Amino acid sequence: MNVRFLGHAAFELSDGEATVLIDPFLTGNPKAAAAADELAADAILLSHGHGDHFGDTVSIAKRTGADVVAIVEIANELAGAGLQKVHDPNLGGTVELDWGSVKLVPAWHTSTTPNGTVNTPAGLVVRFGGKTIYHTGDTALFSDLALVGQRDPIDLALVCIGGHYTMDRHDAVQAAKLIGASQLIPCHYDTFPPIETDAQAFKADVEAATATQVVVLAPGETHSL
Ligand code: NI
Ligand code: MN
Repeated sequence: MNVRFLGHAAFELSDGEATVLIDPFLTGNPKAAAAADELAADAILLSHGHGDHFGDTVSIAKRTGADVVAIVEIANELAGAGLQKVHDPNLGGTVELDWGSVKLVPAWHTSTTPNGTVNTPAGLVVRFGGKTIYHTGDTALFSDLALVGQRDPIDLALVCIGGHYTMDRHDAVQAAKLIGASQLIPCHYDTFPPIETDAQAFKADVEAATATQVVVLAPGETHSL
């Protein structure tokens, strides 16, 4: 399967049969690697409702007919916006779809959608192409990150490192220890001035402290696993 970094916290998972988008913030994203109207999607998965994650969900879902999975308060807003295939789990819940599954797990953050719907943020544990991928969403460092990989080892973690709105690259090293993923792609940095950081220094620190391999992707680059 392939993981394409679309910029900020947005990723595309694809295996030649299905395409899954996570947090597709493209319009207004200075690091966007694609335009919203050129992306395919069988499903869109949202970690939380902030505009830099909610992004182009409505337009992509309307054009593609994609399933959308988001925590219940966001899901209700999306259904009200006219989307037909909306799934509304809460924390701990798993949604099974043709290509795999997604489970919502806790993240320490706040969240309101661009339309004002207050919601609880989440991380996403995705089963896709025989792999387990954990997108932390926006979060601070917290000890329960260690629980996520205890049920199924994490093949790939997608981890925020930019600071200011989330944990910074130093706390993210501690998060990497707790998550224990085989591989890790950092995200949510360098999009805007407050979240500029040194991803190569993060990679060096994680690889010195853990067995996790860090893959730094520029927006638009693809990693295969
Ligand atoms: Ni956020
Ligand atoms: Mn964010």
